[in-house]
Amino acid sequence: MTELTEMTETIEITEEMVLGALRAVKDPDLHKDIVTLNMIRDIKICGGVIGFRFVLTTPACPVRDQLKFEAEKTVMAIAGVERVEVKMDAEVPKARGVIDKADIEGIKHIIAVSSGKGGVGKSTVAVNLACSLSQMGARVGILDTDVYGPNVPIMMGGNDMPMAKGNLIIPPVYHGVKTMSIGLLNPGDKAVVWRGPMLHSAVNQFLRQVEWGELDYLVVDMPPGTGDVQLSLAQMVSIAGAVLVTTPQEVALGDVRKAYNMFDQLHVPILGIVENMSYFECPNDGEKFYIFGNGGGEALAERYEVPFLGAVPIAISIREGGDLGVPIVIGQPESAQAKAFVNVAQNVAAQVSIAAIKANKALPVLNLKK
Ligand SMILES: Nc1ncnc2c1ncn2[C@@H]1O[C@H](COP(=O)(O)OP(=O)(O)O)[C@@H](O)[C@H]1O
Ligand SMILES: [Mg+2]
Repeated sequence: MTELTEMTETIEITEEMVLGALRAVKDPDLHKDIVTLNMIRDIKICGGVIGFRFVLTTPACPVRDQLKFEAEKTVMAIAGVERVEVKMDAEVPKARGVIDKADIEGIKHIIAVSSGKGGVGKSTVAVNLACSLSQMGARVGILDTDVYGPNVPIMMGGNDMPMAKGNLIIPPVYHGVKTMSIGLLNPGDKAVVWRGPMLHSAVNQFLRQVEWGELDYLVVDMPPGTGDVQLSLAQMVSIAGAVLVTTPQEVALGDVRKAYNMFDQLHVPILGIVENMSYFECPNDGEKFYIFGNGGGEALAERYEVPFLGAVPIAISIREGGDLGVPIVIGQPESAQAKAFVNVAQNVAAQVSIAAIKANKALPVLNLKK
């Protein structure tokens, strides 16, 4: 008996034991275990105290807390473990692009925010998406390609004329987000008349002659519809995916279907559908009014078999945030409206990670000797 106790006491906890246990924890979105996904790094073992870094594929991971909890619980269950110290971290993986399209160095994922028609809240969603991702710790840029109605500068609260460095334009930073828009280069109400080839070269310059630096996500606010800009963007670079914004009443109209078909033909993955102006919540008693009908966006997502990324209510504070240049996720982060946008941002980030992991069939090699 004494021999046995002595033996168990001297069993040393090894890195292999920790990794072996953690293989039981699966990422629910990526459908693989966290060790295979190379999310566990820098394991340190000091007697019964185990520490490691848990590297997610996005700082905006919707299941971050759940994964942390499960990892801690699993390692705690190893005999002899007294304490577990998990440091949560994130590295956005780069998806390998389509071979015939040149990637933009430094930009990991381009997310196109699009819709069938104007006025559904594309720019509002794009701006709050970019700011949410940035708030959660990602490196983010926003590019306004709506040359006819560039709203991004107003919504981001900036109107600085961008500076040049050599032949590169330096994007001003608002709310932590590198921002570029034709509205910054052509301030005022002067109308711009662009034809297809000019649009093409404008989009190209915005992508390649702006000093974006290292970005996890570049959010692109698109003009409405299925026009030249969408075509140019899809031809020039590989896009991680498109977020389709709709309102409940637009659902009946088939505009979304046109947008869906266009991206499908251009081989741009659809990350999912956001339903904006989904409902109105009475500020007095919280009752929800589905002014334009309930559940349309979700039904549409189901019909096209694409993810439903979330519903955003119609609210005065959201409109005011846009007009004042302080997006609601920055100005009133604790509000229900801001949380609706954060939910959308987390779902978008998760879909981008899923697409990246799918595209990179060869996962990063696990290096035990780190
Ligand atoms: N959820 C919302 N609640 C209230 N107002 C909104 C909401 N989404 C957008 N808006 C407002 O509706 C108008 C059109 O939105 P915008 O984002 O510019 O649409 P788009 O880019 O699709 O043309 C803007 O004044 C904006 O502030
Ligand atoms: Mg717009």
